Amino acid sequence: MGIANGKEISTKQLCDIMEEAYRRGKEVLPQGKVATYIPELGKADPGALGISLCARDGWHFNIGDTNRRFTIQSISKVISLALALELLGMDKVFERVDMEPSGEAFNSLIDLDLISNHPMNPMINSGAITVANMLLGKMSFEEIQDVFRKVCEDPEMESNEAVFRSEMQNLSRNRAIAYLLQSKGILDDRVEETLELYTRLCSLQVTAVSLASMGMTIAMDGKLGNGESVFTGRTMEICKTIMLTCGMYDRSGRFAVKVGLPTKSGVGGGLVSVADNHVGIGIYGPALDDKGNCVAGGPILEYLSRELQIHLF
Ligand code: DON
Repeated sequence: MGIANGKEISTKQLCDIMEEAYRRGKEVLPQGKVATYIPELGKADPGALGISLCARDGWHFNIGDTNRRFTIQSISKVISLALALELLGMDKVFERVDMEPSGEAFNSLIDLDLISNHPMNPMINSGAITVANMLLGKMSFEEIQDVFRKVCEDPEMESNEAVFRSEMQNLSRNRAIAYLLQSKGILDDRVEETLELYTRLCSLQVTAVSLASMGMTIAMDGKLGNGESVFTGRTMEICKTIMLTCGMYDRSGRFAVKVGLPTKSGVGGGLVSVADNHVGIGIYGPALDDKGNCVAGGPILEYLSRELQIHLF
């Protein structure tokens, strides 16, 4: 099986590697905490962990809680960005959102208000809310959901109403960000509609398996297993670069050094990681580190990256 860069690997070797990665992830779970600022997310099991690896031939190697559904949260920002790039083109998108790492928390508005006047990148909340505003009126939620289903090869994906409502009832911070964006002329007047679309996309439910498929679609430059092209290679190139530089928020630099794979996290506990042309990796672990990233993700991906020789550099 040609997974590792230039190295053949047997199914047995891969299973052993996955088991060790899982063990390393489990070991650090007690250091993490589930998110509670969206009260419904606080019900997650902090001991849950699942890893799914999708190989180029479409095979999935799964270990742990890989069929449990959880909300995609910020991982949706990658697909929203890809859609905006396809619909509006790179210049129009990056007129309104920058492409620089923020070095701030995902829900910060410090840079936006005091330093840059633009969201620093599309992976933080201010940037993704701006991207959702770009999609409004161009695609309905249902049409966008269909794209998510395709990219994740998960035709049953639905949004989780309880999580959606829970976030809508606790939206003060994102509402503050959105109105600040409107005051600066970055959002148009459809602020509440934008917030609803953004929050709905965050509440779509995936599994580690569907995230691994999403990783594979991105790794294959937007092509599905059946050869259908959902996104262009150029769009995927931009998304992967921004995932590498900004996908893990103010832990992106450390992650890029240690793991060396474009990766995006969500506060539901998901992670998607991409090894170009080789594999997509999906992880579920709702125990989060202090930056809001799955706490097990670092040790798991660092180990997989080294063992499979898929670090970018
Ligand atoms: O807007 C929020 O705060 C959440 N719906 C998504 C944040 C998130 O996933 C941050 N990621 N690690």
